Amino acid sequence: VFGPLASAGTALHEAGVAAGTVLVVTDSTVADLWLDPLLAALRADGRVPHVHIVPAGESAKSMARLAAIHDWALGLGIDRQTPVVALGGGVVGDLAGFAAATLLRGLLFVQVPTTVIAQVDSAVGGKTGVNHAAGKNLLGAFHQPALVYVDPSTLDTLPDRDLRSGFAEVVKHALLSSSTLAERLRADWDALLGRDAAVLPGVLCDAVAIKADIVAADEREAGVRAFLNLGHTFGHAIERAAGYGAYTHGEAVAMGLRAALHLSGSVRQGAEAAPDAPLPADFAEADRLVLRLAPPPLPPDLTTDALMTAMGTDKKRTAEGLRFVVLDAPGAPRVVSGVPETWVRAAWAFVRQPLAEHTSA
Ligand SMILES: NC(=O)c1ccc[n+]([C@@H]2O[C@H](COP(=O)([O-])OP(=O)(O)OC[C@H]3O[C@@H](n4cnc5c(N)ncnc54)[C@H](O)[C@@H]3O)[C@@H](O)[C@H]2O)c1
Repeated sequence: VFGPLASAGTALHEAGVAAGTVLVVTDSTVADLWLDPLLAALRADGRVPHVHIVPAGESAKSMARLAAIHDWALGLGIDRQTPVVALGGGVVGDLAGFAAATLLRGLLFVQVPTTVIAQVDSAVGGKTGVNHAAGKNLLGAFHQPALVYVDPSTLDTLPDRDLRSGFAEVVKHALLSSSTLAERLRADWDALLGRDAAVLPGVLCDAVAIKADIVAADEREAGVRAFLNLGHTFGHAIERAAGYGAYTHGEAVAMGLRAALHLSGSVRQGAEAAPDAPLPADFAEADRLVLRLAPPPLPPDLTTDALMTAMGTDKKRTAEGLRFVVLDAPGAPRVVSGVPETWVRAAWAFVRQPLAEHTSA
């Protein structure tokens, strides 16, 4: 549901969320910016909010923070009807969602996402969890939200880097879908990055609808949900090899999408595409859209060997070897496995090239 934060209480009501105590989880940055209007909206609907604030940043997705939420919530004397509301980005949503999944074997969960990533991606689909020393998102549960309530104006305070980074997932959804989203992105790119309220909500809505449709068709990722990993096998390897935090997730995904487009070219022609050859016209057009995200160059000290090693530990690996999502054409994804390693190396080499050499294609 899209609407102003001031109507969040009504939206909970309409979603059938019981009145009374509400557990609100947010982070320290979002609390300063958007907590008061949410609390006012909940109180206006006759609810009694209690607030738990975690530090901003990925480190909050930990078992220690989860345990602290458990202690806090159980100390308040909650019951099975008590809802958990996550106000914030993907970190707060994943953490609070896992708390909701585990408290009393599952509390009703509401997402009020405040980043682009959360509004178009992480708040929808029910994946919740925290990180482990062995890797990101290794502990968690599927726990679907009863309501995802999006106020696009919360993005007004989002730093530019996070905004652009979130748009990597919007572009990914556009490449996965045969909808008009890619055309709208091309036409309105500058207005979108300028947070133009005349175009931003519609694009966010289209982007999240693509994810919602895919998840509705395959909630537990036995099939088409894997398409959402387009660019992510490469992107996760960049994040892991460069050290988490060196790039935002969206920056890594943008680079990963470019590699995935190159690999798609190899798979489609059944032979390794040269890293310095122009992409076929349809993939080149898709690549130009990805380049609007202004992905940073891969640093030379991040060797292809290191990236290949980082890929080998991706949790999406299966018995047949690495799995990749490729495009038969923009809007037509499929999963392939058993891809020759040389094709993957060629895709990395493609991403490494100075941009001028292959953007004119
Ligand atoms: N569950 C899923 O399906 C799924 C999908 C994609 C990503 N994720 C997870 O999401 C996380 C990344 O999400 P994210 O980029 O939203 O990270 P985030 O929650 O850390 O938010 C990024 C930063 O923006 C700040 N912020 C949030 N909203 C703001 C606002 N409106 N104005 C100003 N600052 C604001 C936050 O405090 C934080 O510092 C990762 O942990 C990733 O694993 C989950």
